[in-house]
Amino acid sequence: MMSRGGAQQIGIRDLTTIDDLSQLKAVEKEVWGMADEDTLPLTLAIACKAAGNIFVGAFDKDNDKDKLVGFAFGFLGREHGQTTIHSHMLAVLDAYRHLDLGSRLKQAQRERAVAMGVHEMTWTYDPLQSRNAHFNFSKLGVVSDTYKVDFYGPETSSMLHRNGTDRLWVRWMLNSRRVRDRLAGKSTNARAETLDAMRLLAPLVSFDPSGKPGRADLAESLARLRVSIEIPGDILEVERTDMGLAREWRDATQWAFREAVNAGFVVAEFCRSIRGQQGPGAYLLQRGTVSELIPEV
Ligand SMILES: CC(C)(COP(=O)(O)OP(=O)(O)OC[C@H]1O[C@@H](n2cnc3c(N)ncnc32)[C@H](O)[C@@H]1OP(=O)(O)O)[C@@H](O)C(=O)NCCC(=O)NCCS
Repeated sequence: MMSRGGAQQIGIRDLTTIDDLSQLKAVEKEVWGMADEDTLPLTLAIACKAAGNIFVGAFDKDNDKDKLVGFAFGFLGREHGQTTIHSHMLAVLDAYRHLDLGSRLKQAQRERAVAMGVHEMTWTYDPLQSRNAHFNFSKLGVVSDTYKVDFYGPETSSMLHRNGTDRLWVRWMLNSRRVRDRLAGKSTNARAETLDAMRLLAPLVSFDPSGKPGRADLAESLARLRVSIEIPGDILEVERTDMGLAREWRDATQWAFREAVNAGFVVAEFCRSIRGQQGPGAYLLQRGTVSELIPEV
């Protein structure tokens, strides 16, 4: 496991050569446990890179050789009549996690997108993964107004895709104050406001006394301006110990997100603790559109 001090030595730079790009497969295989056929083909990576898409990597100098220990890959997209970057993959090897490398990779990816004149980056993630929820909403400042059911199909070879592949489609408004503040570490006010709001909310899905997901009355919840949705602190552990329970969490949260998004709510924040207890977390959704939530975009 790398130390925080050691992480300063790890450089973030573009992947440029075939040698750089050929290191992607090993990182994908370790991080997602993927079979070869689900990894990015080297020829496609080379062509994507040559056509101007973004590959940034975190490199550890290992015996004078640059070893790839994390990367972000995004390609050009077109959404709402605007050119976007769709960030397809972000990964950091286990031994290098929690050292801010994920954030540094996203910052580098953002800088390159902004330099290309792009204002919005999108990507998807599993809303049951509390770590990613915290990373995406709290550290980076994304918002979401779209829930995709079984985005990659019912399963893939990845060990992270055993409980279906539902995804939140998140939007990162690259030049917004919200995003700039979060990247500058100024999320304290937002966090305090979110915690305050959470205290007053009756969640649409919450832990019942036995640890299962309980559902609230839909009409009553959606008549409010804000709703919350609770999730377990470590869904991978739930999957390991009780796949049936993991499925119940998938079904309940899928129901809640779809109903709320259809009723005009936007996923705005995620909080790592509920009722002062670390571990489980909760999303905060509010009625309105993304442009109401981020007015300057
Ligand atoms: C997501 C990923 C790239 C983050 O990499 P990283 O280098 O660890 O990222 P950072 O160190 O910048 O930030 C991670 C944050 O998650 C937090 N975290 C870690 N485990 C957590 C958990 N179980 N619940 C909530 N938060 C958690 C860390 O505390 C840290 O937040 P903090 O700095 O506010 O304390 C890495 O975990 C990864 O490769 N995951 C597997 C692949 C994946 O999920 N890709 C992204 C899809 S969006």
